[in-house]
Amino acid sequence: MKLVRSVGVVGAGTMGLGIAQVCASAGIDVLLYDINTNQLDKAVQAIGSNLAEAVSRGRISDESRIATLSRIRKTHDLNFMVTDIVIEAAVERLDIKQTLLVQLEKVNEGKAILATNTSSISVSEIAARLRDPSSCIGLHFFNPADRMKLVEIISTKDTKAEYTQAISDFAKKIGKVAVYAKDSPGFIVNRVARHYYVESLKLIESHAARVEAVDALMRASGFRMGPFELMDLIGIDTNLAVTTSVYEGFGKAHKFTPSRTQQQLVARGDLGRKTGKGFYEYNQQK
Ligand SMILES: NC(=O)c1ccc[n+]([C@@H]2O[C@H](COP(=O)([O-])OP(=O)(O)OC[C@H]3O[C@@H](n4cnc5c(N)ncnc54)[C@H](O)[C@@H]3O)[C@@H](O)[C@H]2O)c1
Repeated sequence: MKLVRSVGVVGAGTMGLGIAQVCASAGIDVLLYDINTNQLDKAVQAIGSNLAEAVSRGRISDESRIATLSRIRKTHDLNFMVTDIVIEAAVERLDIKQTLLVQLEKVNEGKAILATNTSSISVSEIAARLRDPSSCIGLHFFNPADRMKLVEIISTKDTKAEYTQAISDFAKKIGKVAVYAKDSPGFIVNRVARHYYVESLKLIESHAARVEAVDALMRASGFRMGPFELMDLIGIDTNLAVTTSVYEGFGKAHKFTPSRTQQQLVARGDLGRKTGKGFYEYNQQK
């Protein structure tokens, strides 16, 4: 059985930084990479602030904060990403994910488990350009990765059984509860959740309700967050990319048609919390 002592996280955005934090908090050495050097620095700062907040709320000790931070190292060169597992958390684009995994397979001489945090793209397609597609598996975290317990594990028809077991053990080690999903568009959660976003967007586009009203009502009906607050947290570009991928994956099924409102926000660069503005405005960029 493959032992996991080190994890590489590729893409240090909303999800990558959370995943790095979770792994380091569980005592695992983490190597973090992003193509954008500024984002890599911002990610480590954000992890530092998250951990400091956890100390101030009494959730972790200061020793634990220091130890967790010391386990996270940054690299500006993908060629140094030699680890037991690599978790790819770059943007939701098939071409980028395929290219990254091909490079990571080479750098690791085929010895690493190549996990992808894709929300919706076929894991088999992501693995298709690898020399050995059996090393690839989906490991889908939820946002915020440090707090959400659930992960979806997506094995393809090629994934080594030994690797599925190793990822399952790894999920447990970092405190997650794993469910096993088939390699179909949006897997389980994102396929069901699409309607939460798509129907809410249709409501505002047909002037049937306002953003604030929809969010307030959905919260009042028991959801933790309204759809627009949630899209701002997820990142409107990521949310749109996932809807588009599910739409394409189901043969352009009308019910998943991507929203023009989201397309316009993305074109303007209003991506939600991470840019300080989306459906709502935020004082601090996150
Ligand atoms: N945001 C969510 O709520 C959420 C939840 C679960 C899964 N995901 C998935 O996680 C992945 C990342 O999403 P995110 O929300 O963190 O996106 P993000 O936009 O916040 O971050 C993506 C990061 O990838 C980096 N990147 C782009 N090209 C790269 C490359 N070639 N090499 C290395 N880094 C590169 C960008 O610089 C950016 O920092 C996507 O596949 C997404 O579908 C997102």
